[in-house]
Parts: sequence; C-alpha cells; structure tokens
Amino acid sequence: MSVPEELSRMAARWRTERQLKLLSRLPSAASDSVRFAVLGDCEPSRFWIYRKLFNREGVFGEHMRSIQRQKVSFVVQLGDMVERGEPGRYHRFFRDLRRVRSGRPYLTVIGNHDRSRPNGRSHSTVYRTLFGSSNYFFDHAQTRFVVLDSSAKRLTPAQLRWLRLVLKTSLRKIVFTHMPPVQLGLWGGAGKLHALGGFQQGAREFSEAVTEAKVLRVYMGHVHAFGVQDHQGVRYVLTGGGGSALFPSGNSDLFHHFLTVDIGSRGVREHVHTMDGGVFEIPSVPVILPTHEHPSSWGAAARAWLGSLVKRG
Ligand SMILES: [Fe+2]
Repeated sequence: MSVPEELSRMAARWRTERQLKLLSRLPSAASDSVRFAVLGDCEPSRFWIYRKLFNREGVFGEHMRSIQRQKVSFVVQLGDMVERGEPGRYHRFFRDLRRVRSGRPYLTVIGNHDRSRPNGRSHSTVYRTLFGSSNYFFDHAQTRFVVLDSSAKRLTPAQLRWLRLVLKTSLRKIVFTHMPPVQLGLWGGAGKLHALGGFQQGAREFSEAVTEAKVLRVYMGHVHAFGVQDHQGVRYVLTGGGGSALFPSGNSDLFHHFLTVDIGSRGVREHVHTMDGGVFEIPSVPVILPTHEHPSSWGAAARAWLGSLVKRG
C-alpha cells in the first residue's frame, strides 16, 4: 500500500532504522547502565463521548514535554499511537510529535489501533511502510531490547521461534509488546474483563519463553491503566497511561503516566511520573496476582469443577 508522499517525508525522521542509528551513537550504548522512558497508549479515542467522559486533551504532548526534561537516552512508545492506522491519522500524529520537538530517539511498538482496523480482520501495512518492521531488537548498554508485535491479538509460531532465538544472549533482556498475554488475569481479559482482551494465541508459549530466558521485564500497554505483576519469575509492568481514555476496566489504578527505567549494576528500577508532577518508585517486592490458569476465587474454582464434570460426562 502506498502512502502520500508528504506523509512518507514526515515519517522518514521517525523510522525505526534511523532512530536506532541515532541511539547507537549515544555514550550509553557502550556503557553498563542506561535510563530510558516508556510511554503507553496515547490515541485519545475516536469517539467524542469517550474523550469527554474518560479523557482530557493534550496528555500525550504534556508527557512528551516532561520526558524531554528527563535524562533519558531514548523513549519507547508501546503502541496505539493513532485511533486507526490510516494515513491521515498518522499525519496528525507526526504533526503532534513534531510540535513536541523530541530530541531523543523515539522507538515504537505497534498496537491494535495502529493497524487498518483496531479489531477484527486488519493489516499493518501502513505502520510497516512508515516505521519498518514491527518485530525488531537492538542492543544498548549491555542489554537486549526486544520489540514484539502482538497487535493482531496473537503471536504466531514464527514470531515465537524468532523470540526464542533473539533471547538467546548473555546480555540482560527486556521485552516490549502492546498486549498482555491473556493468562495475566487482571489485565489479560479473563472472565468478565475478556472484552478488553489480552492476546490468546501464543500467550502460554510467550510466558514460557520469557521465563526460560530470564527476561528482566515485559512492558505492556493496551489496558489504559498501571499495574505490576510477577508471573513465573518475570516482572510484567502494565503502563497504558500515555494519553488514551481511562475507561473503567476493573483496574483501580487508572491514571495518566509514563515510566522512566534505570538499568544498571543494581538491576532494574522504575519510576512512575504522573500528570501533576508526582513521581514514585515501583517497589521491588513480588506482586503475585491470580491468573487465568490458577482460579483463586470460590466462583472460579466451582466453574472449573463443573467444567471438569461436564468433560467427564
Ligand atoms: Fe490496544
């Protein structure tokens, strides 16, 4: 699919390949430590009623301006930049990005909204034409950063093979993907929250792969909230507060924010930055929550028991 020439020109500056080249020239590239920012979903919603009820204007711009004041080497945006992956919407997004005058390498993860349709059958041609591959990795500060495309609400066997391959390294490992795997019950869309949707196909294999490779963090968006969950030895951080509407989702931590992440000899430390200028550090104590695979409530246990009786019958 071709995109208008003006859009191609605007996008050239933000192509992943170019951003990675800029990043490779920074002093932190060869260092043992790095600080970067992670920004979640920022499309403000295509429905005015959602914007009115659950959002406020200009959050993305405010976050980006705050990030410029931080000593970060780069920024990762976790997807859902635009309401729908059409050329006109990307045009507006690049215009907003230009206004922020971002001087930091800006790397993107594709979200379901960045595809031709956010739900159902869709393609990612426009995103890939503008930015490049939707699955990629880079090494920086003795760390391998892997960006994985879960925008179609699944991981294919080929993606999982690629993931296992790129995680075979002695470097520290960090993964960014738009959607949580479904078994992370609270954000993955189990039970009544299923409509929110974590990805299902390949979810279990994904968690096994990141556990086996001792990945330090998985950063995810899609659910417009904040949360932390330790699952099979890996810390998953939900940071979906980049400027999208804060829908009631069953999650109590609904607020706009971005993260700064420090990786160094002391491990990984994250700070959460809120809209009012507040900052707090994410504690390192393990957060073990019920998952889709391990029903913890009496109701869920009863349903599982009834299900097993039906199967036996
Ligand atoms: Fe999403």
